[in-house]
Amino acid sequence: MGAFRIIASSFILVLFMYVCHQLVRFTDMDWWSKLALVLGLAFLFTLVIGTFLFFWKEKKLDHHWWRDLLLDTSLTVMAYINFLVTFVILRDIYAFIEYLVLPIPIVKLYSTEATGILMLMPVILLFMGNVVVRVGPRLVKVPVRFPQLPKELEDLRIMHITDLHISQSLPAKFVKKLVTKINSLKPDVVVFTGDIMDSFVEKHTEELEYLKELKAKYGVYLVPGNHEYYWDGQKALQAFRDVDFKVLVNQVADISLGEAVLQIAGIPDPAALHFQQEGPDFPRVQSQLQESSFKIMLSHQPSLAYQIRDIGVNLQLSGHTHGGQFFPWNWLIVFFERYSKGLYHIGNMRLYVNQGTGYWGPRLRLGTYCELAEIVLRKG
Ligand SMILES: [Fe+2]
Repeated sequence: MGAFRIIASSFILVLFMYVCHQLVRFTDMDWWSKLALVLGLAFLFTLVIGTFLFFWKEKKLDHHWWRDLLLDTSLTVMAYINFLVTFVILRDIYAFIEYLVLPIPIVKLYSTEATGILMLMPVILLFMGNVVVRVGPRLVKVPVRFPQLPKELEDLRIMHITDLHISQSLPAKFVKKLVTKINSLKPDVVVFTGDIMDSFVEKHTEELEYLKELKAKYGVYLVPGNHEYYWDGQKALQAFRDVDFKVLVNQVADISLGEAVLQIAGIPDPAALHFQQEGPDFPRVQSQLQESSFKIMLSHQPSLAYQIRDIGVNLQLSGHTHGGQFFPWNWLIVFFERYSKGLYHIGNMRLYVNQGTGYWGPRLRLGTYCELAEIVLRKG
């Protein structure tokens, strides 16, 4: 991991030099103002990389208010830098195009005023992004059609929650409001597709108490994502079992509805293998599937879609991508994830990728929203 830290730190140093250069080089700021700006940015960059290196080493259970504050502040600063770097790059691209097209380029593009605007705009975006997560999860109705759907399963409603990331960053009342909302909708089934716990479970008894209140006609099901394993995966899964969730690790739950059988299978995130835990085992899952049942697979990673389709699953529910969570990653996500959000047809299988009900890292979303998906099975 030493090499990774050196590469990451070097990359951030190069980014810092580029941003500083572009923000001060062509302005008419006096020497002192330029120095103040560079020192200010140096402080912000150091805060982010310093906190990152500190928490990498110091992943401890003991709870100190200053740890949470430091982590929250650094994550917000990280988002500020993300927006600032994006705007600096976009301005350079625009200036380059302008240089090619216009006979006389606009000088003001790199003025002191432009630098001021560039540094202020990320603050506005931070505020707007925070409002999006404060509003809470948006209910998205997703009718999914299957030609061979048994009539007993028609209009079955599945509430799909993913990537809550319960941690110091997510207020407990967010979970409370979510549970109240889901219960008010009286779902048939509730499923969680991973990255629900992103911290030591001992710190989040209040959130677990709220989750215990969840009610669904045919039960609540969960598969672990990668983040459950980053802390103490086994403890997290036991905590979910203790609140009556059915945790599916290469397991299948059978639900009888009249003549029809609904099977809900769960495949763990491949990250389990890095922590000497049970990883995905497709033959084992396949051996539990019935020929005539309607099969739903819960998989944190949408990228397992081809293997899941090949074992005869009808519907895969996934998360993980967060839809990119905030600008510009909500655009760039397509370069990293083949299936980043929404409904996909993969042969006869349908895949739904939820953008994430909570958020990871800074308390914001921009260009995406917190999603609570209501999957409705339809014939057709
Ligand atoms: Fe996640």
